[in-house]
Order: sequence, then C-alpha cells, then structure tokens
Amino acid sequence: METNSEIFFETLVEGLNIGVIALDADLQILHWNHFVTQRTGKCLDDVRGRPIAKVFPETNNERFHKMIELVRSKGRHVYHHWLELSHLIPLRVESPDGDMLPLHSTLLFPYDHFGGVRRYGLIMYDTGAIARSSGQLEAALVALSKKQAEQDQLIRKLEAANSQLLQSEKLAAIGQLAAGVAHEINNPIGYVLSNLKTLDGYVLDMLRIIDAVDEVASLDELRQVKRALEYDYIREDIKALICESGDGIDRVKQIISALKDFSYIDEEEFRPADLHRGIETTLNVVNNEIKYKAEVVKEFGELPELECIPSQINQVVMNLLVNAAHSIEQFGRITLRTACEGDWAWFEVEDTGKGIEKKLLNRIYEPFFTTKPVGKGTGLGLALSYNIVQKHNGRIEVHSEVGQGTCFRVWLPVCQPTALTGKDAK
Ligand SMILES: Nc1ncnc2c1ncn2[C@@H]1O[C@H](COP(=O)(O)OP(=O)(O)O)[C@@H](O)[C@H]1O
Ligand SMILES: [Mg+2]
Repeated sequence: METNSEIFFETLVEGLNIGVIALDADLQILHWNHFVTQRTGKCLDDVRGRPIAKVFPETNNERFHKMIELVRSKGRHVYHHWLELSHLIPLRVESPDGDMLPLHSTLLFPYDHFGGVRRYGLIMYDTGAIARSSGQLEAALVALSKKQAEQDQLIRKLEAANSQLLQSEKLAAIGQLAAGVAHEINNPIGYVLSNLKTLDGYVLDMLRIIDAVDEVASLDELRQVKRALEYDYIREDIKALICESGDGIDRVKQIISALKDFSYIDEEEFRPADLHRGIETTLNVVNNEIKYKAEVVKEFGELPELECIPSQINQVVMNLLVNAAHSIEQFGRITLRTACEGDWAWFEVEDTGKGIEKKLLNRIYEPFFTTKPVGKGTGLGLALSYNIVQKHNGRIEVHSEVGQGTCFRVWLPVCQPTALTGKDAK
C-alpha cells in the first residue's frame, strides 16, 4: 500500500513540467515521469533496467561521465548548463510558438534509496527563454561595441577635421593680417614717397640758390633768387615733410614689429608675456579693420606677466576686435579693459554694436556658425578662440544686449599648471 506521502510525491513528480529520471548506481533507468515519456515517445516499461546511454544514443557521454565522476566523488549535485556547447541529453520541448526545442539544462544529483542504496536523479528543464534573451543580450552587446568602435572612429575623424579647421582659420587669419598690413603700410609709404619727391624738388631749388652765390653780381640779386624760389616757404615745408616722413617710417616700423609678434602663429610654448603689449600689437595689426568703425578706448589695469602662448592670445584678441568692429554698423566705440583678480587675469572687448540675440548666444562658439554674408565670415573665429582659451585653462564669458552691444571677457590663469608647461618635467 502506498503511503500518503508517496502518493503526494508521485503526483507532484508526474505533474511537473520538467523531466525527472531516476537511475541506479550503474546508470540504468529505474523510473521517469510522464513528461519524459511524452517528450521522447518512449515507453517506460520498454526502457526500465536499460543503461541510459543506450536509451539515448545521442547523449553526450564524455560529459555525462565527467558529471557522474564529480557527483560520485563530491557526493553532491552537478549542473550541465545551457551555456555549455551541447546538450547533455537532448529532450525536446515545445516553445511558445509551437517549435520543438531541445531542453537546455540538466541537473544530476545523488540520493540514497531506502537502505542506503545509491541512486542518481536526473532533472532536465527548459532554459530556452533565458538562452534566447541571453542571445539577444549578446547580440545587443556586439552591436553596442560595433557602435562604440564606429563612434571612436568618428571622434578621430572629428578631431582631424577640427585640427584642419583650426589650421584653415589660422590661414584665414594670416590672410586677413596680410591684407590689413598691406593696407596699413601702403598709406605711410605713399606719403613718405610723395614727400621724397617734393623734397627732391626743394633740394634742386636750394642748390640753385647756393649755385647763384657764385653767379650773382650783388647780394640783392641773390635775395631776389631766394624770393623767386620761395625760400621761406621751402624752409618751413622741409621741416614739416621730414617730420611727417619720420612719423610714417615709425608707423611702418611699429607694424613690422607687431607683425613679428604675430608671426609665431604655430608657436606652442607657454612663456610669461605682457598681455598689454599683445593687445597693443594686435591693435596695430587690425587698425585698418577698426579705425573707420570705432574709436578705441583703453582702460587697462595692473597686470603681471601671464604664462601663455602669446601669438595665440593675440589671435583671440584679434578675433574679438574684428568681431566687435563688424558688429558696429556706422561708427561706435570699442572699449578694451584688463584687470587681475588673485591668480586670474582677464581682458574684455566691449562694443557698442548690434548685439547678439539670446537664442544665438549658445551657438556662437560652434565652428562655421556665422550670421555674416558669405565671404565676410568664416564662423571659425570664436571656435578657434574658444579652443585657444581652453588650452590655456581659461574661460570666455559673453554678455550681450540686442541694440546695445556685446562684451566678451576672457579669463586666464596667471600661471599654468606645471604639467602643461613642462616646467618641472625634467
Ligand atoms: N561682438 C559681436 N557682436 C555681435 N555678434 C557677434 C560678436 N562676436 C561674434 N558675434 C556673432 O557670432 C558669430 C560667430 O563669430 P565668429 O566665430 O567670429 O565667426 P564670423 O566672425 O566669421 O562670423 C558671428 O557671425 C556673429 O553673429
Ligand atoms: Mg569673427
């Protein structure tokens, strides 16, 4: 007679939606549940007492014996996981969409039957859903890492494009400089040349007067020659012409020396430099762009030397100045301010131009963002400036009111972190 608990367990095991097989110590089939019958199509009575490897010839025997050895030596259960390459015993199970799939996972465990007889239990269950989602996960991971690789490549391309852009902006800046400088030099050279011509005529007249000393009969006659050649006028004009020519040559000298400061456009070394000198230099160079648009007001504070790449900072000043001049429609004012606050110095370029709309304020540093007509704006000036200031560990601030004007303030640390300048690198 079966006891209550035996009935209870039998009903439970028969009703389970997993395969349960009981084996004796020699791995012969003692019993299995309804699930196994259904999935194998084999009748329990036909297989009872036969070795499991015979009943299921497709069993992965090598693996099965390894598991048995482990179970015997350790005396505890062993899993054969679905992640392992092949199924231990490929029972089939119906998937939600009606396909028959192999059962994926197996659990082998020892147990003692009444009287201490060693037996083995084999449980087979479906982990297809997990396997499927794991497969999806793996595919997603592969796709993700592919995306990552694509992005890395894109970033590298962007970096290359960015440096090309900056290079082209530098070239544009050099072009702008060259045009400005040519214009600036042209003017003084022009009037020095014309003064020289006038002086040439004056020298001839003076020589004529001196030569007359030997030719004239009387002092009166000599005086007459002097009067006829307007000696008094020549005398005064020579002074003025020489003075003016001197100024013109000075101006050319100034521009040339300013240009020298600008010519290290590829300079990469941080060194202490006088910001005011940089601003003056830049003003000299872009004077041509500014003088018809604005009066320049300087409100300089006290500044220590700043550790910077001077030619690059000059370029920032130049970009801000040129933008300021462009923003003024008729004639306005550009105010340059500097100050030092603790370890930081700043300079400011303020204009009375047309201002920047609020909604555009966060776009102005984008490469190629320009509101200027084709040919006038590259949209790279502020992008380049932003880059340079970042490289200097500084920051740019902007305040603007439409119709009132704009003020750009650039903050720079007085000293750069040592790692950047390589001061203590040795
Ligand atoms: N001082 C300023 N006043 C008004 N708008 C400005 C000023 N500075 C920059 N901007 C705006 O920012 C844009 C981008 O400037 P920038 O990068 O120098 O390129 P670009 O000068 O070639 O247009 C300008 O086209 C302009 O719309
Ligand atoms: Mg610009």
